[in-house]
Amino acid sequence: MVNHITLTQDLLAWAIAMLPLFFAYRSWSVLFEVSVIPLVWLILDTFLSRQGAMWYIPLVAVVVVLLGHRLKSRIAILVSVICIVGWTAFAVLSNSFGFIEIVFLGITLVWVSVYTLETIRQTNSHCPQKVDLILCSFSGNTGHYVEKFTDTLQENDITVIVHRFHRKEEFAPILDGDTLILAFPVSGWKPPWPLIEYLLRDLPSGKGKPAFILYTSAGGPENAGFIAWTLLALRGYRVIGRLWSTYPLNVPTFRIGPKSLWRFIDSLTPFKKDIEFLITVAKEFSRGEKTGLPLILWPTPLALLGFLLDNRWINRFLYRTYVWRRRCIGCNFCENYCPINRFSSESGIPKAKGTCYLCFGCVNHCPKNAMQMRFLSEYGQPYKSRWPKFIVKK
Ligand SMILES: Cc1cc2nc3c(=O)[nH]c(=O)nc-3n(C[C@H](O)[C@H](O)[C@H](O)COP(=O)(O)O)c2cc1C
Repeated sequence: MVNHITLTQDLLAWAIAMLPLFFAYRSWSVLFEVSVIPLVWLILDTFLSRQGAMWYIPLVAVVVVLLGHRLKSRIAILVSVICIVGWTAFAVLSNSFGFIEIVFLGITLVWVSVYTLETIRQTNSHCPQKVDLILCSFSGNTGHYVEKFTDTLQENDITVIVHRFHRKEEFAPILDGDTLILAFPVSGWKPPWPLIEYLLRDLPSGKGKPAFILYTSAGGPENAGFIAWTLLALRGYRVIGRLWSTYPLNVPTFRIGPKSLWRFIDSLTPFKKDIEFLITVAKEFSRGEKTGLPLILWPTPLALLGFLLDNRWINRFLYRTYVWRRRCIGCNFCENYCPINRFSSESGIPKAKGTCYLCFGCVNHCPKNAMQMRFLSEYGQPYKSRWPKFIVKK
């Protein structure tokens, strides 16, 4: 069971470790990503006997690597490697080197190695002149986030061509810029399915072109950045960084309670600090500097859960949309919006067929709140976009 004293010590160690990171990054996204460490500790605390102070070494390694990334220091990587080696030595000498330690050590080593390679590869700075931006945004949050980034690039005389990704079938952009930016909302701890499919099958080969990843989430992006990075790397892009921020939750199911409460919660994000950091990163990106967050942090099983809960087969049966006939005014918004053209009009009332991609556009944007999804939206409230200009209209 949880040992409250060690748990308090762990949280204290984590809070102390966060201080320099917060001053270096001034971004809440870093705080969130590093919070996976106390979570792992908590699990280990609960199910296994404690291994003493050695568990703090990965925390030190992560803090040092993140600081090294922000301060652009290679020495930091060396210190981080020393931490890992020290941790191993400590574990071996104290005779506490079991299976869990090997797994934990393995993950940390992979992380530090990938990060080291990435840092070494990025010695040649690259100043972008013309950027292609693939923007996927279902309720406008990512559109808003990205606009702040592109405004800064344009102020620095960089040409930005925005390619709106909505209907995969209609999406065939000419990507002749010298850099690619990929921007998307997190959907089930991963990028949205249509985008994953596009990246896997149709994105032209990058031939070593640099790419940057931007994404928004309601708070739990987990491995979405890692998955996007892997897919871009598979298509021959050299991913040079990533950044994300918390935005209002656009899943109607969870928006239970009074409207005023949700208006208040929505108004809290995006955090001012995150947007300030985004603009700093955009400036550094324009100068060709290494910026944003390190490419990967912790692979967690939640990405797997995302694939299990949101897939072609489950979506077809579980996430079924239906229309409240009394409310529907036959405006056809849903039909015109659906990224995968699931709706057709039957006597003026939209009827859905086939697999839902769970963008929630038809539910969130319906002017009469007539579109519902069984179990998933009928108990909550739709998310009325704060940035409607980014909503795709046919
Ligand atoms: C089907 C679905 C799944 C989502 N899954 C996650 C998730 O795993 N983690 C998270 O933090 N936010 C999740 N969100 C929330 C969105 O990522 C977030 O609200 C985002 O800012 C929406 O951006 P957009 O307006 O550009 O589409 C999900 C939203 C949808 C519709």
